[in-house]
Amino acid sequence: MQKILVIHSSLNQDEGNSAQLASHLGQHLASKYSAQLHSEHLYAQDLPHLTSNEMQAWMTSTDDRTQTQQELAAISDAYIAQVMTADTIVIGMPMYNFGVPSAFKAWIDRIARAGVTFKYTDQGPVGLLKDKKIIVVAARGGMYQGTPLDTQTKYLQDFFGFLGLQDVDFIYAEGLAMPDKEQSIASAMTQIEKY
Ligand SMILES: Cc1cc2nc3c(=O)[nH]c(=O)nc-3n(C[C@H](O)[C@H](O)[C@H](O)COP(=O)(O)O)c2cc1C
Repeated sequence: MQKILVIHSSLNQDEGNSAQLASHLGQHLASKYSAQLHSEHLYAQDLPHLTSNEMQAWMTSTDDRTQTQQELAAISDAYIAQVMTADTIVIGMPMYNFGVPSAFKAWIDRIARAGVTFKYTDQGPVGLLKDKKIIVVAARGGMYQGTPLDTQTKYLQDFFGFLGLQDVDFIYAEGLAMPDKEQSIASAMTQIEKY
């Protein structure tokens, strides 16, 4: 059975525009492909910034980890296991201050792990993940798609590409702080229904 992972990082949790659209896409895919659906709300988990202690835990061999290090390493292990077992990853992506939400950055910092999801070789970095589709549902107050101000899109393409995942689609719901919000949501819904 296919597995779909939905990552939410709206401050508004279920009420966020990105969350509602990403949930809809996740449910749509799960129903269409009879797939198993799992959702993670990162803000609800109070995911802290990555710390030096947590990285040190990753770099300590499993058998040598203290109890605290085992607990710290388990945070990243769990997120990576979800990513590794997913066939499709739907990312609900708010734009906050021209970037990604800090909770999402904290998730990124947990799933990018040398020797686990990427490695360095003589030729440079190589991603260790493969054969997954990423669909980003981007919600923005303004309009940035295709402009130099949309650094978020390139950042996400670069990040997932670094891990070996080049198949990254984007669905945009833009202008959500502008008068045509409903039209923008409807347009994103139409794109979602096409998957
Ligand atoms: C803290 C914060 C920062 C924001 N920064 C931006 C921004 O830089 N550009 C933009 O277009 N919209 C910005 N917005 C508007 C959000 O992108 C918009 O409300 C979007 O719906 C957020 O997704 P969500 O509803 O899933 O939380 C910001 C909103 C918040 C709360």
